[in-house]
Amino acid sequence: MANLSASIEGLSLQSTDKNSKFKDCFPSLNPIDIYREHLSEELAKVSGVDADKIFPRIAWTATLEKGDLSLAIPSLQLKGKNPKELCTEFAAKFPESDLVHPPTATGTHLQFFFKPQPLAHTVLPRILTERAAYGTNGNQGLKDPSDPSKGRKKIIVEFSSPNIAKPFHAGHLRSTIIGGFLSNLYTVMGWDVIKMNYLGDWGKQYGLLANGYKYFGSEEALAKDPINHLFEVYVKVNAIVTEQSKPIKDLKDQIKAKKDKGEDVAALEAELAPLVDASEDEKARRYFKSMEDGEPDALGLWRRFRDLSIEKYKQTYARLNIDFDVYSGESQIKAESMAKAYEQMKEAGVSEESEGAVIVDFTKHGAKKLEKAIIVRKDGTPLYLTRDIGAITERDEAYHFDKMIYCVAMQQDLHLAQLFKITELMGHKDLASRCQHINFGMVRGMSTRKGTVKFLDDILQDVGDKMHEVMKKNTVKYEQVADPVKTADTLGITAVMVQDMTGKRINGYEFNLEAMTSFEGDTGPYLQYAHARLCSMARKAELNMDELHTANFDLLSEKHAVDLTRLLAQWPDVLLQTAKTLEPITVLSYLFRMTRMLSSSYDVLKVIGSEPELKKARMALYASARQVLHNGMRVLGLSPVERM
Ligand code: ARG
Repeated sequence: MANLSASIEGLSLQSTDKNSKFKDCFPSLNPIDIYREHLSEELAKVSGVDADKIFPRIAWTATLEKGDLSLAIPSLQLKGKNPKELCTEFAAKFPESDLVHPPTATGTHLQFFFKPQPLAHTVLPRILTERAAYGTNGNQGLKDPSDPSKGRKKIIVEFSSPNIAKPFHAGHLRSTIIGGFLSNLYTVMGWDVIKMNYLGDWGKQYGLLANGYKYFGSEEALAKDPINHLFEVYVKVNAIVTEQSKPIKDLKDQIKAKKDKGEDVAALEAELAPLVDASEDEKARRYFKSMEDGEPDALGLWRRFRDLSIEKYKQTYARLNIDFDVYSGESQIKAESMAKAYEQMKEAGVSEESEGAVIVDFTKHGAKKLEKAIIVRKDGTPLYLTRDIGAITERDEAYHFDKMIYCVAMQQDLHLAQLFKITELMGHKDLASRCQHINFGMVRGMSTRKGTVKFLDDILQDVGDKMHEVMKKNTVKYEQVADPVKTADTLGITAVMVQDMTGKRINGYEFNLEAMTSFEGDTGPYLQYAHARLCSMARKAELNMDELHTANFDLLSEKHAVDLTRLLAQWPDVLLQTAKTLEPITVLSYLFRMTRMLSSSYDVLKVIGSEPELKKARMALYASARQVLHNGMRVLGLSPVERM
């Protein structure tokens, strides 16, 4: 699996000959499927309903108190019978089973509780031998689950997409975190994932930047810290533009006022022309024009800015376990692709001329809410939307993807809806249907303690420093950490990411340094602490970790041990569910349920001091929990630490 990203270690695929007779049922990948199969077959005998029909209706439960699986009798749509009575009847008729206790009828729901010992025997050795692959399901990404030779489905995840020489804002941060998570998720689901960064790297502002560099740039500073240096230059040259724009605007206003009164404006216009001509704004326009015309010198400088910025981006993304397969960007979209799109739009009657520009009036195409969009400016230049139209068709031709995700802030809901609608109206209905906008809400108050955020590094540095301060407060522990600065850095990154992934994507949140770096509550540091504690337990136990799968699991009889095992059995299902919600919180809240359960287990299920057999069995349980925690954190894009 050469193209699996470095951040995700495992992927399990099941050969077809072992395929269950049920659709989307993979007992060798997902232990719960063994139970679903068993229950479907037994319930078929009891109810007379086809097992095939029952299988997909067996659902997981919200909490362990409600059982491990349940069936809503009304979902079987048995006509003319009272679901409540049926429920009681089926419960009574359900035969003695090796796998589950007699079902409980609660209202119209049949609840099933797994028998602990067979569950532990199935699940724990699996986790301990499959390790990073436990929970992954490579069959999900197959084009045809019954025939792996047909290959895997391909997805492009476009995310992060910052703008060169401009600050990396909270929208880019969230896109990076959520997009990284989605890439991992599709990878462990067996898809062929292409991670794409669509840089804002084209437009008049790069003409401005190039000119600004001539005044304020330094080769040395550029080589040392391109992102910050380019930003500095950009800020300085922008200040000139602002300065110059005042007298220009004044003159323009005066001219307009005079014209309205019917007075002669020749003198004022003669005054205005040289001002405009000499302005940085106009120079930037001319410079950008030479870039558009492919002038080598102009392009050379721009390319250097771009290459150096990408180099630096790569280092920062690596800290988040992200490596992009493609650095695309607005600059990469070919003029031909856009020209072809204009033609298609015109032919399809989608676009129209309006005051010298070309527009799409969505209200005329059954999409009132999408209003109007300009496709080509009066001066013939393309816009952000135009480039996206060119990009979508280019990507389709280059990659033949089955799905493409745009991970972009909800501020661009309209933009992406317009893009997809135009794609559809142009005659690429199928292409439009393969694309999805994954959006998210705003982060409020993201700033470092020193002030503004210029790039991701600034935030990560700041949170890492804060984490270091928090760690120092526990002197005893702090002295045992081999590389505290590195650990603080990892914990800081975890803190930022976990805060971002707490809550549904669409909800915004307040960037809160204190809250996210706390070891208490559902925070990143707490998650890391739970992992490190399990690692420390394994070190102290002095057992052969490679033999734990041979432990006597019958000894895990306490409620805490049973419940923890039940929870660990759910991980493959949690990932499947996540593939539906596409929400990091689906994974995160599962991990927090587990870590809370773990902390209440330590006093009850002691490892050190227990009899050898029991010690081994309990260690096997904790090692399994550590593995699942590890697997979950990896999908989220986190780097679990072993000591802290
Ligand atoms: N660079 C853009 C911005 O910062 C985000 C790009 C989103 N992707 C796209 N295909 N339009 O706002």
